[in-house]
Amino acid sequence: TKTRRIALIPGDGIGVEVATSARAVLAALDARHDLGIRIDEFDWSCQRYLDTGALMPPDGLETLRQYDAVLLGAVGWAGVPDHVSLWGLLIPIRRAFSQYVNLRPVRSFAGVTSPLADADNRPIDLVIVRENNEGEYSEVGGRFGRGGPGETAIQEAVFTRRGISRIADYALELASGRDRRVTSATKSNGLVHSMPFWDEVVRERADLRPEVELVEEHVDALAAKLVLRPESFDVIVASNLFGDILSDLAAAVTGSIGIAPSANLDPTGENPSMFEPVHGSAPDIAGKGLANPVGMLWSVVLMLEHLDAGEPAARLMDAIEASLRDPATRTADVGGTASTEQVTAAVLDLLAAD
Ligand code: NAD
Ligand code: IPM
Ligand code: MN
Repeated sequence: TKTRRIALIPGDGIGVEVATSARAVLAALDARHDLGIRIDEFDWSCQRYLDTGALMPPDGLETLRQYDAVLLGAVGWAGVPDHVSLWGLLIPIRRAFSQYVNLRPVRSFAGVTSPLADADNRPIDLVIVRENNEGEYSEVGGRFGRGGPGETAIQEAVFTRRGISRIADYALELASGRDRRVTSATKSNGLVHSMPFWDEVVRERADLRPEVELVEEHVDALAAKLVLRPESFDVIVASNLFGDILSDLAAAVTGSIGIAPSANLDPTGENPSMFEPVHGSAPDIAGKGLANPVGMLWSVVLMLEHLDAGEPAARLMDAIEASLRDPATRTADVGGTASTEQVTAAVLDLLAAD
């Protein structure tokens, strides 16, 4: 059989807890479907930074390059500033491997109650296509006049024609296989250089795909519509920062950010792609067994699909959905009382019975 090599980086906090869940599920699927899965685990984390001064070793990216996929829990912990931990691991991986698409599907599930009134009658099924390599996430800029009354911070955003074109193309292609509607998140009224450029390039690309309808929305109004009419969206294309914010918002609208998955994709296939839940290390609930593993397990589904294991991926998705339908096998964030381990055990039982 073919071998599927996975680099697992549990990271910090609940990242470690949901990674344990993913490991168990992957082992079960591998035993059942003979997937040739080989998992190597890396302790790259804030703890490693505190011990050694770096989140990952100097040849970390070269190490990861040998894998078919990277699976990550979450990074971030007390004692390490968040911008240090993220720019020391997560963001370098996304960039070094040209994972320029951050795909974040959002949907409602039977059994998971939306905080919105009446949402159960309005099934949500949308995908956020977040630009993942440039934009507002940038190291260009600086802090000037530290401590003085004129102290100033300048944070540049970097948008390129190539970067905007390829994310727009990905979103348009995705939409052409769905409801053929792309909503582009803009802010061309407030940002005078980057967003007018974004709009122009997205329009140019959309003109080449007349079968897909392009809708432009200012991101503030879009945020409101995501709350008021989430069922009306198909594909949302957004810059790095806007996509980040909208994806937590949209996930919360379906019930919890604990169920939201993501795929950091290099669509050319030249580099490994990375899969991770949308949520972070959640220090407020870490170590208590409260973490919802669904965001991670759904990310495993996306990873298996990416690794040409569509059938086991579909079975895992069915098991996740069945576990969410049963109040006894839901975590607290989605209205249950089950622990991370109990949800994982339920998913394993469902897979075994399948
Ligand atoms: P967070 O996503 O960790 O937590 C936000 C809230 O959602 C918390 O109340 C948390 O308890 C809850 N939550 C998150 N995931 C959950 C789950 N699976 N089950 C149940 N509840 C869940 O966001 P934050 O508090 O802004 O960030 C905490 C740390 O994580 C920071 O260091 C941040 O930089 C980092 N972070 C890392 C990633 C990543 O590695 N991909 C993503 C986001 C945040
Ligand atoms: C995410 C996270 C990261 C991001 C942070 C931790 C840098 O919020 O993956 O959504 O903003 O990309
Ligand atoms: Mn985020």
